[in-house]
Amino acid sequence: MSDERRLTTRQGHPVYDNQNQRTVGARGPATLENYHFLEKVSHFDRERIPERVVHARGAVAFGTFEATGRWGDEPIERFTRAKVFKTGKVTDLAIRLSTVIGGRDSSETARDPRGFAVKFYTEDGNWDLVGNNLGIFFIRDAIKFPDVIHSLKPDPVTFRQEPARIFDFMSQTPESMHMLVNLFSPRGIPADYRHMQGFGVNTYKWVNAEGETKLVKYHWLPQQGVKSMTEEDAANIQAGDLGHASKDLYDAIESGDYPKWDLYVQMMDDHDHPELDFDPLDDTKVWPEEVFEPKHVGTMTLNRNVDDHHNQNEQIAFGTGVLVDGLDFSDDKMLVGRTFSYSDTQRYRVGPNYLQLPVNSPKHARPQTNQRGGEMSYHIDLADGQNPHVNYEPSTMGGLHEAAKPASSQAYGPEIVGRLTRERIPRTNDYAQAGERFRLMEDWERDDLVKNFVANISEATREVQERMVWHFFLCEDELGERVGEGLGITVDDVRGLAPLETQTLNEEELRRLENLG
Ligand code: HEM
Repeated sequence: MSDERRLTTRQGHPVYDNQNQRTVGARGPATLENYHFLEKVSHFDRERIPERVVHARGAVAFGTFEATGRWGDEPIERFTRAKVFKTGKVTDLAIRLSTVIGGRDSSETARDPRGFAVKFYTEDGNWDLVGNNLGIFFIRDAIKFPDVIHSLKPDPVTFRQEPARIFDFMSQTPESMHMLVNLFSPRGIPADYRHMQGFGVNTYKWVNAEGETKLVKYHWLPQQGVKSMTEEDAANIQAGDLGHASKDLYDAIESGDYPKWDLYVQMMDDHDHPELDFDPLDDTKVWPEEVFEPKHVGTMTLNRNVDDHHNQNEQIAFGTGVLVDGLDFSDDKMLVGRTFSYSDTQRYRVGPNYLQLPVNSPKHARPQTNQRGGEMSYHIDLADGQNPHVNYEPSTMGGLHEAAKPASSQAYGPEIVGRLTRERIPRTNDYAQAGERFRLMEDWERDDLVKNFVANISEATREVQERMVWHFFLCEDELGERVGEGLGITVDDVRGLAPLETQTLNEEELRRLENLG
């Protein structure tokens, strides 16, 4: 047999018997100096790392992003100096598409948002765009994230996902209505990963060479088209396969049928836009496309599968703080919270040196840091010619030094004046876009939405059911009437409900409340 494929231990010792432990005589007892056996089993005992607290199941692939160099008809340099968007620039990338709530081996047909996380290995270091397939989210302040996820995760006692708990929380969270109207419609179960959209969801900024900033939102549109499933389609697939979406993506790439997504960007001036009936930093809202036209900026092609699930999927780590020059945060209150959470959980889940792993480290920029030590550190980011004794900065003895300040490093963006506070944003407007989305649906989609709401909300308490119907009336009469009818609740039953203490109704919402039904 060829020596090239010879089995060894991790110490490099050849293994000449992988079937039998070392024992005293053929029938035992076993000996403790049995290095090969102990190494094999004790490594196996540690094969799993904690699964992601959310998005535990996902599929990873690799590919490229090719930039058009334009935002629609205009040169993109007018708006961002990010090199990844320069004309014809091709950038390597990794993508992880995921479900949110289930564990690592859960079904991919779940009614659940899908994660859409892309890591661009740019020449300026990595850029992560960590989004979802629905374009919006349940909440607008990061402090509520553990609560919304606890309500959606299995009950801590029965370990079963309970609609009664989900709608208990959502009924007290009016900003979730827009997301719920999407999630419980057929869009809530994408047919697979290749046929779904992706969105950055949160509002980011672009910065140009002059330091001028714009607010932007990112949208990925699949060239394969968008397809969804009903509960019945999903149940049929789930009966035979829990991983149909991962398989579909893997098979397509293996057979050379490379999936592609076009990246579009919406843009607005960088201020609070008092003329709009929503806040541009509110991730429960979409920006109307007729006013803020999404314009094409490039195309992503996926052309390679992982070599190893653990190394490239379990250990890949994305974060909203991972940005490059020309791309920036906005003050979106979710975005700042997310930015803390991702690297925090990854230091726990993968380890403090998670950025040394090949899938996470930059490919086209060289890390040169003074970080040292920590579990599983296996190299140091030493620069060519750096004095290895100097792991601090500043120094006169040949250590790392700061990069030269680019002309573009001046202060930029609008000036912000405010006092420390804990307050809701003024323009919550929680119902208008949910109602609009419902009106835009085709008849069969509305039927499906109402059926799904009734089936799930009927498991909640009567108090929660009434509050949900009240919210739906504020979104759109037909939605309130039809879900109410399915639950045996009329407009008279909910007319007297007072607004929640955690909400502020605008004039239009107060008018709808007065004319309820
Ligand atoms: C994964 C936190 C909101 C998209 C995660 C993880 C955490 C987290 C802790 C696990 C990361 C890991 O173990 O590597 C949060 C917090 C949020 C928030 C605190 C709100 C304050 C969102 C939103 C989106 C989103 C609004 C969509 C736009 C994702 C995606 C992943 C993820 C796609 C999976 C990344 C991967 O595939 O590895 N999030 N998240 N998250 N989150 Fe969030």
